[in-house]
Amino acid sequence: MSLRFLHISDIHLLDLSGVSLWRYLNKRLTGRVNLALKRGRSHDGRLFDSMLSMIPALGVDRLLVTGDLTNLALEPEFDLVQRKLRESPVPVTVIPGNHDTYTKGSVRSGRFESFLAEFMDGERLADSQYPFVVRHDGVAVIGVSTAIASLPLFAIGQVGADQLARLGKILDATAEEGLRRVVLIHHPVVDGVSGARHDLVDRDAFAEVIARHGADLVLHGHEHRLVDTALPGPAGLVPVHGVSSGTSVSDKPGHRACFSVYDTAPEHLRRDLYTWNGSEFRASPK
Ligand SMILES: [Fe+2]
Ligand SMILES: [Fe+2]
Repeated sequence: MSLRFLHISDIHLLDLSGVSLWRYLNKRLTGRVNLALKRGRSHDGRLFDSMLSMIPALGVDRLLVTGDLTNLALEPEFDLVQRKLRESPVPVTVIPGNHDTYTKGSVRSGRFESFLAEFMDGERLADSQYPFVVRHDGVAVIGVSTAIASLPLFAIGQVGADQLARLGKILDATAEEGLRRVVLIHHPVVDGVSGARHDLVDRDAFAEVIARHGADLVLHGHEHRLVDTALPGPAGLVPVHGVSSGTSVSDKPGHRACFSVYDTAPEHLRRDLYTWNGSEFRASPK
């Protein structure tokens, strides 16, 4: 039994068509709109299409997206994301990022969950939304949410004590079943990766859960750059891998658009990195 999956993040697909300017003014979001428009020039959604077209040749079984699928968490953006994800030739699992819960209103209305529920189909502990678990060929993919609405120019995240307690139980239960455990979380979880205004505020508590209950791999996004770190687990280091934005047009090393492909055979966990070279994604040295 093995799973071959593709990890991409921070695709930030932009579609603000049909959104009244008054909606931004009413919410005093003009600064945020400027940010979104600037963001619109640093991302190109066609790179996501290019990745989707490679899936059959790559032979992956599942596509994992670790948050920031939108920019301002508005309905037209979620509508576009929903349509794009439905084009995937393989099942998709998503978790939210800070941009997917940009405003209190988007959190209150559960906009991310209502548009993208079909991509978060999994098992949950009683009455909770997160974490959720997707079992697939000897692997448990565990989706954690760090998404909270934060103040303008802040991009912090929080898992929360209740969700962390549930994560510990899920990690134990899936280990007892002999499953490989892949944890998806939007924010980096290792000290020093994110600045204070970008940080996961309960990163230490998350690290304690991994130290006690273990995991085989933690995948994240958020920083829009390649991150290769690890956290201590009960039986050695747990790899923690972050990818840059999957639609970035940056040509700075480490910030170019990329995605990873993982093979989880019982005897190994192998990763191949694909990086955008200006016209296509190519396998590249890690
Ligand atoms: Fe992002
Ligand atoms: Fe983010």
